Amino acid sequence: MQVQQLIGEMFPASNHQLHIGGVGVQKLAEQFGTPLFVYDESVLRRKWELLRSTFPPRFHIYYSVKANPNPNLLAVFLAQGAGLEIASAGELHLAQEAGCPRSRILFAGPGKTPAEIEIALQARIGEIHAESLTELERIATIAGRLNQTAPVALRVNPNGDAQGGAMRMGGKATPFGIDEETLDGALDYALSCSSIELRGIHLFAGTQLLDCEILMSQYRKGLQIARRVAERIGRPLHSVDFGGGLGVPYFPNDQPLDMVLLKACLSEFVQQIDADPHFTGTRFVIEPGRFLAAEAGVYLARVLDVKVSRGKIFAIVDGGMNHHLAASGNLGQTIKRNFPVAVATKLLQPEADTVDIVGPLCTPLDVLARSLAVPPIEVGDLIAVFQSGAYARSASPLGFLSHPAPPEVLAADGEARLIRRRGEVADYLRDVEFACPAIAANSQE
Ligand SMILES: Cc1ncc(COP(=O)(O)O)c(C=O)c1O
Repeated sequence: MQVQQLIGEMFPASNHQLHIGGVGVQKLAEQFGTPLFVYDESVLRRKWELLRSTFPPRFHIYYSVKANPNPNLLAVFLAQGAGLEIASAGELHLAQEAGCPRSRILFAGPGKTPAEIEIALQARIGEIHAESLTELERIATIAGRLNQTAPVALRVNPNGDAQGGAMRMGGKATPFGIDEETLDGALDYALSCSSIELRGIHLFAGTQLLDCEILMSQYRKGLQIARRVAERIGRPLHSVDFGGGLGVPYFPNDQPLDMVLLKACLSEFVQQIDADPHFTGTRFVIEPGRFLAAEAGVYLARVLDVKVSRGKIFAIVDGGMNHHLAASGNLGQTIKRNFPVAVATKLLQPEADTVDIVGPLCTPLDVLARSLAVPPIEVGDLIAVFQSGAYARSASPLGFLSHPAPPEVLAADGEARLIRRRGEVADYLRDVEFACPAIAANSQE
């Protein structure tokens, strides 16, 4: 997506400098230092409202915590009526900290440890999604020992005819879910097990979808499987979860998901559902992360050095792939393309230079933007990387090179507040077991 369009839509208070939540970046950088992540609360709300008004009321929205796990963001969505999809005991802890009612938590994701399953059962969360037969058996055993009936949905890996998404997570060989071809065995096991309450199925085949038709084809396929399961078990399912996957535009040719078209398709889709007795009383669920959080976030870094090497200009900034792996093109991208990036303090100035914006790490992978056209760039300028609210800070190798982890700030109505402090060098020693008398003795010299 083009930077100017993005600024116009998401950060309209901007003039010569970018304003996030109505606060100018210079003020943000002075108040909180750089590098940092800033989230605009009104964008989070707007994305929620857009999604809520696009999906029929029969669909429940669970925010996927992995996209951005800061409890302050979770609280924004919880206040709007969201549930939370978690993928670890750590995320459960964050969901509880944010005040999520236990019935509104569902636990998906492969490789749940026995300890995590036990914690989730003890917490009596709404649903646990089994990703394999082994996991289903493990849940049954632990629930039996705790004298509980576990509320379980089975995640299904559909067969090949529903595909899509830049990162496909289903429809082929994958570690996620139970292959559709072997689902019946898992269903029979779940039904025969007194410590399992089979509540539903879960399908999720791909993230970063911008094509409404691909999304709808996944939903139609999911509905077909859900109907077959309801027939086999002889009653409607309690829940059918279509996963996340709604994308946002990152790159120049990306077109945003057409929400008007999606709404029209969904309203036809839900008419079919309403008319089908297989789905009487069934709750439909989606669990998006990126769509809700990505566009609200901006990563801000300050230019420390501008150097020319063999005719090429490099602007070296104070944070890079250690804080924002995705923007550096190293989080699953096959072709490295620039996220929307701008000099946040010179928005109205004409472009004059072509630069590579690089981070401070000792690796050629640490590039935040390649061959970017910018106004004359100087030491002290602030660089903004947009679309940084999801899979950014929490999906980055924060410990690589032991720089302090960046803080997070939530801005709204011209006010900004710190929602995660900046890391300290001491953080890197906190968990270290270190005993080396020779070095300790030398250090006293
Ligand atoms: C089980 C599950 N649910 C939801 C999501 C959120 O996906 P997205 O951010 O694409 O909406 C993911 C992402 O990987 C996931 O694995």
